[in-house]
Amino acid sequence: INNSSSLLSFLFAVISSISSPVKGCFTSIISFGDSVSDTGNSIEISVLETGKLPHTAFPPNGCTFFHRPTGRYCDGRLVIDFLAEALGLPFLPPYYRYKNGTSENFENGVNFAVGGAGALNSSFPGIYNPSTNVSLVDEVNSFKQFLNLRTDFKQLLRNSLIVMGEIGGNNYGHAFKQGKSIEDVRNFVPPVVDSITSSINELIELGAVTFLVPGKFPIGCSPTYLTLFQGSDKDQYDPLTGCLTWLNQFSQYHNQLLRKELEKIRNLHPDTNIVYADYYSTTLRIYHSPNKFGFKETLKACCGTGGLYNYNLSRACGYPPLRQCCNDPSSYMSWDGIHYTEAVNRLIANVVFEELMNSIHSLNNLCPTSTINKLRMIYPKSEM
Ligand SMILES: *[C@@H]1O[C@H](CO)[C@@H](O)[C@H](O)[C@H]1NC(C)=O
Ligand SMILES: *[C@@H]1O[C@H](CO)[C@@H](O)[C@H](O)[C@H]1NC(C)=O
Ligand SMILES: *[C@@H]1O[C@H](CO)[C@@H](O)[C@H](O)[C@H]1NC(C)=O
Ligand SMILES: *[C@@H]1O[C@H](CO)[C@@H](O)[C@H](O)[C@H]1NC(C)=O
Repeated sequence: INNSSSLLSFLFAVISSISSPVKGCFTSIISFGDSVSDTGNSIEISVLETGKLPHTAFPPNGCTFFHRPTGRYCDGRLVIDFLAEALGLPFLPPYYRYKNGTSENFENGVNFAVGGAGALNSSFPGIYNPSTNVSLVDEVNSFKQFLNLRTDFKQLLRNSLIVMGEIGGNNYGHAFKQGKSIEDVRNFVPPVVDSITSSINELIELGAVTFLVPGKFPIGCSPTYLTLFQGSDKDQYDPLTGCLTWLNQFSQYHNQLLRKELEKIRNLHPDTNIVYADYYSTTLRIYHSPNKFGFKETLKACCGTGGLYNYNLSRACGYPPLRQCCNDPSSYMSWDGIHYTEAVNRLIANVVFEELMNSIHSLNNLCPTSTINKLRMIYPKSEM
């Protein structure tokens, strides 16, 4: 896809088809990550760690789809929710809500992603995470405990789609907020990527086969970073998008390193499927032509309490609780200054689903032939 108008027609083609779920490839989705894919874990973790509910427990979070706060950092569905829908699976239940050992809730998926979690924990030099002690290592350890209860764990791993990330964003975000220089923060990128690839390798050893690994968003377009670095020199902003160029370059640096390391895993394990989800290019295309995708506000949060980007670092969406959404959340890209609206998540999910389905033919015996044939019809090769 070379220009946004063909992307547009392509996305709409996918939107109409995603409504018919593709069943039969995966029996469950297992998700690791942070707030980008948290479906309710941080409510449990926050109460355990601080005795307080997080801001996502309050309205208007959840206002467009669930019509109540669910713990999602969004007005509606996340990318992971749209993927579950597309694959004919239920929304992923948050692991830490049911960790009393009941596994029947997790038959078709389980979510370990925790809002605020990092890829690195505070024992890594220079890393301090004020929002939670949970890190990717803890999430993977929880999964291993969960697997211990299952006699069919090999089969479960083999037939699951593992979504690894997005994770690491909080390590960078806190470092920037703590005043670390871009050079210092760049030094965290190799260990963050290493933590992601180590987790993937660990799960491959246990028997996992299919991974979806999202890259980073263009953080220079995010209201939280735009507010943090508000008043930067004019030449640091992209004149077309209003995003901070050096921060987007930082996201690209993370993504390049991640892709390089994923390629190494593919070479070492040719029998696995490791699909990179290009969140960066997908969302950047929207920033370049927002009108074409129905967006009016790209850099201002829908849910906020004022300021140039409608974002205030000390007053997150939900504090104080508001009864209502902003007018027409689907015309905003940013929900709360950090996370995207459901409208953006839907577009990302369409592209990610397409990426996933295009690599599925290399999955030996995982998807029935009938499913593959159906997919070929829905996604003709010429569309790419
Ligand atoms: C575990 O927790 C779930 C949700 O809170 C509850 O429905 C279930 O009854 C609990 N199971 C046991 C064995 O306590
Ligand atoms: C922090 O992560 C490392 C691995 O990256 C792990 O060995 C260590 O036990 C973790 N520390 C805590 C306190 O969780
Ligand atoms: C992290 O763990 C330490 C030590 O147990 C504790 O003092 C601290 O409050 C925890 N932080 C959070 C955010 O839960
Ligand atoms: C952000 O919120 C804090 C706390 O309510 C307030 O004191 C401050 O003035 C706000 N900042 C802006 C730029 O609105």
